Amino acid sequence: MTDKVAKLVIGDQTHEFPVLSGTVGPDVIDIRSLYAKTGMFTYDPGFTSTAACDSAITYIDGDKGELLYRGYPIDQLAEKSNYLEVCYLLLYGELPNKAQMAEFDTLVTRHTMVHEQMHYFYRGFRRDAHPMAVMTGVVGAMAAFYHDSTDITDPQQREIASIRMIAKMPTIAAMAYKYSIGQPFVYPRNDLDFASNFLHMCFSVPAEQFKVNPTIAKAMDLIFTLHADHEQNASTSTVRLAGSSDANPFACIAAGVACLWGPAHGGANEAALNMLKEIGTVDRIPEFIARAKDKNDPFKLMGFGHRVYKNFDPRATVMQATAKEVLDLLGVHNNPTLQVAQALEKIALEDPYFIDRKLYPNVDFYSGIILEAIGFPTSMFTVLFAVARTVGWIAQWKEMIGDPQKKIGRPRQLYNGSPARDYAEITGR
Ligand code: CMC
Repeated sequence: MTDKVAKLVIGDQTHEFPVLSGTVGPDVIDIRSLYAKTGMFTYDPGFTSTAACDSAITYIDGDKGELLYRGYPIDQLAEKSNYLEVCYLLLYGELPNKAQMAEFDTLVTRHTMVHEQMHYFYRGFRRDAHPMAVMTGVVGAMAAFYHDSTDITDPQQREIASIRMIAKMPTIAAMAYKYSIGQPFVYPRNDLDFASNFLHMCFSVPAEQFKVNPTIAKAMDLIFTLHADHEQNASTSTVRLAGSSDANPFACIAAGVACLWGPAHGGANEAALNMLKEIGTVDRIPEFIARAKDKNDPFKLMGFGHRVYKNFDPRATVMQATAKEVLDLLGVHNNPTLQVAQALEKIALEDPYFIDRKLYPNVDFYSGIILEAIGFPTSMFTVLFAVARTVGWIAQWKEMIGDPQKKIGRPRQLYNGSPARDYAEITGR
């Protein structure tokens, strides 16, 4: 709370509302009493001016291009930390000491296997199903397989559900991939780190172990780290809204996975790479730039723009450098997709349309290039995003459930339909 007060004048009435301050970032006007005082709602489709919760997990300054997990800048975490440590940080609020890290590592590692019956569950899906469709179904089904951790009033069950979700999501994702290519499922290995184990489950076959290159594993770990949380984005808000009704955590995360799939959100990495391939060669870029600027054409430059970042996306900066490192390591020189990406970025950033609207490449612009070089098909890109974001969803869900002020999410509306009218018999219509 601050001393500041916001005054709202409606006709001859003045109403006062408290102004709240966070540790950093814009103040917010507390309008919880607005309807009671005025009989009016606020109107804010897309929540562009609305804070729906208070949170201590992630902070973004879109103008500065700053992203903090629990106060730590993303570039420092990308350089010095690793995904599992970041998971600990997001979940518990502080960086772990050695003993805490070792305990957490063991806990997650020992929960990576999934219930054997889940193997049969996968077999009900068509082989050509999109892996995100499979993910949405399987994650939702976890509530059926792990019913003993669905009581959200029990802190112990909430904790174990969180660990299960973080540990099993890579296994579930790798199984979705294996199923789609007709290969047998590969069990996790406890001697591998989080990212290496995931690559092993995706690329090993019973006839041959996949040798995990440390640079590739590091790039995979970095992609997970950069996607781990991102404040109140669409899928996280979906998880919170689903959780606000006291739904079990598996159901809430399944809702998040479903929302993430959309091309305006997590589906953008798949869409961005498909777009770069469709453009194909540098000489075709002007045609696509013209389409992106044409108001009568629904085409958008995928991997460009962000609701919050209006300067640059700090994740994209790290991702661009890693893309180059991975392609160099794999000996992928003169990669046409990377050439188109680099040229497109340059041309767009010099174009007044993109400058005026503050449209910069986002994290998804370069991640697809790395993932393709590692060997993932485009249909798996959003799945990998879901694996990484699971900890963010869980941390935000746990924060909400533990908040004594939690209320069921229930937005209101500006009704534009017919006023009350009498039912007409079919013969008279
Ligand atoms: N290409 C061309 N024009 C664009 C683009 C784009 N990618 N993004 C926004 N614009 C234009 C938009 O048409 C509008 O123009 P005008 O003011 O003339 O009407 C202006 O820029 C503002 O855009 P907006 O749609 O009001 O912005 P928003 O905050 O509602 O949307 C966005 C943000 C990310 C959904 C949008 O930029 C977009 O669809 N980008 C492409 C998809 C994408 O890359 N998404 C990944 C986001 S990062 C990963 C994640 O968080 O999931």
